[in-house]
Amino acid sequence: MSTLKAVRGTRDLLPPETALWNRIEATARAVFARYNFGEIRTPVFEDTTLFARGVGEETDIVSKEMYTWEDRARAQSEKTQSLTLRPENTAGVVRAYIEHKLGETGQLQKLYYIGPQFRRERPQKGRYRQFSQIGAEVIGPQSSGSESPLRDAEVLEMLATLLDELGIHGWVLELNSVGSSTDRARYNEVLRTALQSVVSGMCADCQRRAETNPLRVLDCKVPEDQPIIDTLPKIADSLDEESKKHFAAVTAALDAAGVPYTRNHRLVRGLDYYTRTTFEFTHSGLGAQNALLGGGRYDGLSEAIGGPKAPGIGFAMGEDRLVLTLQALQSETESKADAFIAPLGESVNPAALALARELRRQGLSVEIGDGSFRLKKSFEAADKTARRIVILGEDELQSGILTVKTFASGIQTKVPRAELAAFLAKPAAE
Ligand code: HAM
Repeated sequence: MSTLKAVRGTRDLLPPETALWNRIEATARAVFARYNFGEIRTPVFEDTTLFARGVGEETDIVSKEMYTWEDRARAQSEKTQSLTLRPENTAGVVRAYIEHKLGETGQLQKLYYIGPQFRRERPQKGRYRQFSQIGAEVIGPQSSGSESPLRDAEVLEMLATLLDELGIHGWVLELNSVGSSTDRARYNEVLRTALQSVVSGMCADCQRRAETNPLRVLDCKVPEDQPIIDTLPKIADSLDEESKKHFAAVTAALDAAGVPYTRNHRLVRGLDYYTRTTFEFTHSGLGAQNALLGGGRYDGLSEAIGGPKAPGIGFAMGEDRLVLTLQALQSETESKADAFIAPLGESVNPAALALARELRRQGLSVEIGDGSFRLKKSFEAADKTARRIVILGEDELQSGILTVKTFASGIQTKVPRAELAAFLAKPAAE
């Protein structure tokens, strides 16, 4: 008899890895509590219509990736119903918001969730058919301030804090605005026209998208298509004044809070409910599936599924990808030396050896560069072999204060020589 295995695209999580999952979830819950979010748990399956109307019939998720079945009637009183394992949780949360009349409280609803989602995608590293999301939604009637750009900025600032507290350094926040639904419809037409003259040279998927949903051409990953896509009109030029003002207010608040971001004009996201702000946090350590999380505003979603007007914004993080990133960062730091000493000039070489001896005697692993190295070369060599670089020049020798840079955080610190060993022994995330 052939042995039974977990279904393709699903997997078992075993100790010790599960400890990391628990740590991530505990950190997320603690951060959400500080921002006054409460937990919501919705069913893992819903009426198929919810996703068709909410996420959009034309999207890859709904048209190709859902696990859908006809649930047979068990009694005369029951009807056969098409059900779907949730491919994402935003539509379910908004359905619950409508069903439980949460808008009638007049309060902004701040809800978070942690749980499995299901998409029939081609499995690869970081992409599974059952995966877990940690997400949150901020939704409410307009009078609760749900449409304010401050909500967008606060959600993004919370995410920056959460990733930092998880120890995920090196994330990049990519930000864009897809405008109102009218702006998007206008842009779709602009794109359709622009694509007419170039689409014959593009991949088969793009040729189909140019007909059905031109916006999706911007998601194309085929390398040969990229130069063509770069020449297409940008959605920023199709935004109305209100959407431009909203976006400017989001970025101004992020600037004030010191949250770095880059504008990505192509970030239109693969779900149809988005309006105005869209974003992703990416990490280079993930490879092809580099999105740690994605989200955006969805001011028309509640109405699209039969509810009252209830603007909202939210995100979902791929928990599997958080785990992968943390594992990669950990193994990178574990296999590296504690410090790389960079002598500035050959005359400092002997002092570098003396310092290395001092530190090695205290149990630290240390590499030494060479005073003939230019500073840039020292930094490159150090980044490959050690968690931190210690700069040692004549000034440092005289003053006894050394400059240390921690690569994981990018932070540069002045450390008195007597405290150097203790400093270098600390985890590199600090
Ligand atoms: P999404 O971009 O489809 O957005 O998914 C969010 C995150 O879930 C992705 O960035 C990725 O980390 C993770 N993810 C998606 N598919 C997979 C997969 N097959 N395997 C592993 N991880 C995956 C949403 O789901 C929206 N509901 C986000 C949102 C909330 N927008 C507003 N509110």
